[in-house]
Amino acid sequence: MTYTLDLNPDELLTTTRTVRKRLDLERPVPMEVIRECLEIALQAPSGSNRQTWHWLVITDAEQRAAIGDYYRRAVEQYLAGPGAAGKLHVDDPERGPVQRRVGDSVAYLGERMGQVPVLVIPCLEARTLPAGNQSGLWGSILPAAWSYMLAARARGLGTAWTTLHMTYEQEISDLLGLPEQVRQSVLIPTAYTVGTNFKPAPRQPLDDVLHVNGW
Ligand SMILES: Cc1cc2nc3c(=O)[nH]c(=O)nc-3n(C[C@H](O)[C@H](O)[C@H](O)COP(=O)(O)O)c2cc1C
Repeated sequence: MTYTLDLNPDELLTTTRTVRKRLDLERPVPMEVIRECLEIALQAPSGSNRQTWHWLVITDAEQRAAIGDYYRRAVEQYLAGPGAAGKLHVDDPERGPVQRRVGDSVAYLGERMGQVPVLVIPCLEARTLPAGNQSGLWGSILPAAWSYMLAARARGLGTAWTTLHMTYEQEISDLLGLPEQVRQSVLIPTAYTVGTNFKPAPRQPLDDVLHVNGW
């Protein structure tokens, strides 16, 4: 085990931020560290313990650049649309500035995804997507993806939960040679962080979203 940060569980859970501007694009990430994080991810739950997950780790510069190009195009489309982070809650004096910073940060990563040293794409075997119980499907990969990100943070690595690459899911599947029944979930850029101090983020108050014994 190569822990580099001394974080207790609550600190780990509350300071694993979406890292974009503080990803160190120059420092190599040893595959051994990625393997450790993935071993931890495999301890996550999966429906019926099926473990029908697959983990794509992309380190090849040309492949990263190609994925980065698709990602940049997807980010440009997202930023031009009405749902972009920076266009939400603009009139709210508390949330507006935070949203603008997020939008700015999304644009920054959009330009650099292909330069991040390691791109990880957790995938799931699913020939068809169910019309009904989607949580049973995606719940078999997303907790494991988050475990990977927590394990990475504990080792001084930064990650970001990104999904805009799904705009070009087919193109990226073709690029990586994924079998037809294998679906991508998140695209997780992974790099050492510039500094390791991250803080809990401002969130909406718990009592605004808590419903005990019914809505
Ligand atoms: C479902 C989901 C999709 C997301 N997609 C993207 C994305 O495509 N690109 C990106 O830069 N951030 C993406 N994010 C990161 C969010 O913007 C981020 O979690 C949010 O701003 C809160 O920041 P924090 O994670 O540092 O607390 C996504 C997060 C989630 C949960």
